[in-house]
Amino acid sequence: MLRGFFITFEGPEGSGKSRQSQALAAFLEAQGHRVVWTQEPGGTELGRQLRQALLARQEPLTAWSEAFLFLADRAQHVARVIRPALEAGHIVLCDRYTDSTLAYQGYGRGLPVDELRRLNALATGGLVPDLTVLLDVDVEVGLARRARSREWNRLDAETLAFHQRVRQGYLALAQAEPHRWVVLQADAPFDEVQKRLRDIVLQRLTRAG
Ligand code: TYD
Repeated sequence: MLRGFFITFEGPEGSGKSRQSQALAAFLEAQGHRVVWTQEPGGTELGRQLRQALLARQEPLTAWSEAFLFLADRAQHVARVIRPALEAGHIVLCDRYTDSTLAYQGYGRGLPVDELRRLNALATGGLVPDLTVLLDVDVEVGLARRARSREWNRLDAETLAFHQRVRQGYLALAQAEPHRWVVLQADAPFDEVQKRLRDIVLQRLTRAG
């Protein structure tokens, strides 16, 4: 029995989803909710090692080996962190999840999206988020933000065309499943985006009882 509520955050580089989701976690905790904030890749001990291999690596990875590393991270993360927290009735906020694999390895790298969906289902035991927030931002704006704010990783360095495919992929995924997704324009001021996010999440939590 999963008594908790599972929210994932998705978006292209520089969409601000980590800061937005962390601010939301602090807000929900202050409201008396029990909250777990976590991220992919890197939400477990194994995941932190895989994150290193994935993001810092010099040797080029094949598209499938990259996909399987993200999936291994996810399988461990769901089993060790996400599912136990949901069973204990927590709200889980996860910075990237299954849709990142569809957007980056599927739309970005060109791997077959339906195969990736099947692999996601295996890796997660079929665990689907109650709500997925897409923080959408223009690719060039996002990459420029990202370059200013922190270390540049292996995926950031992909071509503009790659990042544009990722963004379009996200928009297609959101459109195909409108009951699960909410799309927020992430180029608005931080506080405005945060306010919209809080309103939506409080509404969904009330609806879920
Ligand atoms: P990270 O430093 O966490 O960046 P961000 O703040 O954008 O989340 O790097 C995660 C990178 O890994 C990011 O470029 C997206 C990519 N990624 C995939 O390609 N597939 C996946 O399944 C996941 C979870 C992430």
